[in-house]
Amino acid sequence: MNRWRDLHTGEVRPEHVGQDLTVAGWVARRRDHGGLIFIDLRDHTGIVQLVVNPERAPEPALIARDIRAEFVVRAQGEVVRRAPDAVNPNIPTGEVEVQVNELEIVSRSEPLPFQIDDENVEEPVRLRYRYLDLRRDRMQHNLRLSATVIGAIRRSMEEQGFIDVWTPSMTLGTPEGARDFLIPMRLQPGRFYALAQSPQLFKQLFMVGGLDRYYQIATAWRDEDLRADRQFEFRQLDLELAFPTREQVLDVLEQVVVASFEALGRTPPSRPFPRMAYADALLRFGSDKPDLRFGLEIQDATELTRDSQFGVFANAATVRYLVVPKAFSRGELQKLEDFAKEWGAKGLAYLVYDEDGADVRSPIAKFLSEQELEAFRSADPGSTVLFVADNTPMAERVLGALRLHLGQELGLVDESRDEFHWVLDFPLFLKDEDSGRWTFVHHPFTSPAPGHEHLIETDPGAALSQHYDLIWNGWELGSGSIRIHRQEIQERVFRAMGMSDEEARAKFGWFLDALRMGAPPHGGFALGIERFVALMAGESNIREVIAFPKTASGSDPLTGAPAPTTKERLDELGISVKTPKA
Ligand code: AMO
Ligand code: AMP
Repeated sequence: MNRWRDLHTGEVRPEHVGQDLTVAGWVARRRDHGGLIFIDLRDHTGIVQLVVNPERAPEPALIARDIRAEFVVRAQGEVVRRAPDAVNPNIPTGEVEVQVNELEIVSRSEPLPFQIDDENVEEPVRLRYRYLDLRRDRMQHNLRLSATVIGAIRRSMEEQGFIDVWTPSMTLGTPEGARDFLIPMRLQPGRFYALAQSPQLFKQLFMVGGLDRYYQIATAWRDEDLRADRQFEFRQLDLELAFPTREQVLDVLEQVVVASFEALGRTPPSRPFPRMAYADALLRFGSDKPDLRFGLEIQDATELTRDSQFGVFANAATVRYLVVPKAFSRGELQKLEDFAKEWGAKGLAYLVYDEDGADVRSPIAKFLSEQELEAFRSADPGSTVLFVADNTPMAERVLGALRLHLGQELGLVDESRDEFHWVLDFPLFLKDEDSGRWTFVHHPFTSPAPGHEHLIETDPGAALSQHYDLIWNGWELGSGSIRIHRQEIQERVFRAMGMSDEEARAKFGWFLDALRMGAPPHGGFALGIERFVALMAGESNIREVIAFPKTASGSDPLTGAPAPTTKERLDELGISVKTPKA
C-alpha cells in the first residue's frame, strides 16, 4: 500500500508465508516469553501476531521492551507459519505470525483510562474517551454496519427514481410534536431560527415544485427527553412522492428494508409486510407499535361484565384482561399490581388457576357470576387472568405495558424472529388530555381518510387519517402519511385543532399559499436511521450506533458541551440569562 503498510493486520494469511511484509497498527498486547517478545498488532480488520527474537533482531528487541499497550507501531518482517501447538484457531490470522526485522514506534500512548477489551466500562467513561471506545470491535462493527445500511438505502432510493435534495436546517419552528432548538440571531436580536425537527413542509413544497420523488438522509433536531430510542439529533430517511397511492409509499419502504437486509447478507423479511389497523393494535396489544414476536393478546370483557356483581367491573367503561401462562404467587401478584399502578391503573384484579386444577384463587371470584367464571375458566391450569377496569385509553396503556413486561419476564419473546408490520388507519385527531382540545396524532398535514372529510367538524374523534407507521419488533421505525393537498382542508384541520384563521395564517400562511398554487396529491415517509441501524446491529440503545451521542441527561462528556458562553457573546445576541436555581 505505502511505506506504512503492505496490508492490514487482519489480512495476513498462510499464502503470505515467505514474504517480507510491513504492517502497522495499535498494540493490543505485548508479552515477554523468556527471550521472545510477542506483540498483538491490531487495526480495524483484526489482529496479527508479531514475534521479536532478540538473537535475530537485537535492535527491534530493545524497542519492543519499550512498547506498551495502544502504542502505534510499524513492523517489517517475514511471514512464517506458527508451530502446530501455537496455532490460534479463533482468529483468521491464527496460523501465521510476522518475524520482525524492523520495528518503529510511530506514536506513543499514555496508560489508558480503560482496557480496550474490557466489556464493563461505564458509559460516561466510554463517551468521555469515545475515540478509544471506537477502537473496540463492537463500535467498529456498528459504525461499519451503519455505513453499509445507509449505502444500501441510497442505492435503493436512486433505483426507485428518487432524487437527493437538501433542505435547510435553520428554519421556522416545525410542528412535529417536540420542542424546537432555537438559534438566536445576532443580526436581528430577539428573533430566532429553529433547527428543523424534520424537512416536512419543505418536502411538501418540493411536490408543489414538481420534483416528483424526493429523498434525503436528513438530520433532524428535537428538544425532548432522551431515551434508548431518542437523541436530540438523529437522521431520517426522509422521502416524498407526488401522485402516490398509500400502497406505493409502503412499497418504497419495504424495498428499502429488503435492500438493507440483502446488503448485510441477511435473509430479508418477506413482502408485503403484514398490515394492522390502529384500532386493532390497541385492542389486541394495547399499543400502536405492538411487538408481534409473541402472543399474549389482550381480551375484552366489557360486555360480559356489564352487569357484574363486582362493582369495579360493572362501573368501568372498559374491562380488559390478559391470560398469562403462569400461576402467580401472592408476592408476584402484588408486584404486578404495583407495576400496573405505576402505569396509572387503580388496581389489578386476578383469577389464578393453579397447576393442580384446584379451585380458582382470587379475592373477586365470589362476586363473579357462573357465566363470568365460565368465560374465564377456559384459562388452562397453571395460568392467571389479570384484569384492568378503567377508561379505554388507560386499560389499553396498562395492559399494553403489562404484556410487554410479562413477555420479557416469562421469556415469551422469540428473539430469533423479525416482525415487520405496518400500522394503518390512525385517527386524524386525539384529545389532548391537558387542554381538552383536539390535536394532531403526528403532525397536522396528514390527510383525512377518503370520505372522512366531513367528520372534521361533525365528529373529529371518529375521523380516520391516512397516516401509517412502520414497526419492527415493537419499535416505531418510521412514519408517514398521504398529505392534505387542498388548502381548504388544511384550514379546516387547523380550525378543528382550535387554531384561529389569523393564527393559522401567521404560522403557516407561507405554506397555505403554496397549497393554493397547484399542489398535487402527495405523500411520504420518514424512517429513523439510528433506530433501524440499532435493531440491525442487535443493539437496544441507539447510542451504540452513533459515533458521538449525548448521554441520557443530554450532555456530551467528550467536549463538555453544553457550556456557558461569554457576556460579550450574549450581549451581541441581545440575550440575558436567568441563572437557574440550583
Ligand atoms: P416522526 O416524527 O414520526 O415523523 O419521525 C420519523 C422517525 O424518526 C425517528 N425519530 C427519532 N430517532 C431518534 N431520536 C429521536 N428523538 C427521534 N424522533 C423521531 C423515529 C421516527 O419514527 N415528518 C414526519 C414524517 C412524515 O410524515 O413524512 C416525521 O418526522 O424512527
Ligand atoms: P378492592 O375492591 O379495592 O379491595 O379491590 C379488589 C381487587 O380488585 C384487588 O385485587 C384490586 O387490585 C382490584 N381492583 C381494584 N380496582 C380495579 C380496577 N380499576 N381494575 C382492575 N382491578 C381493580
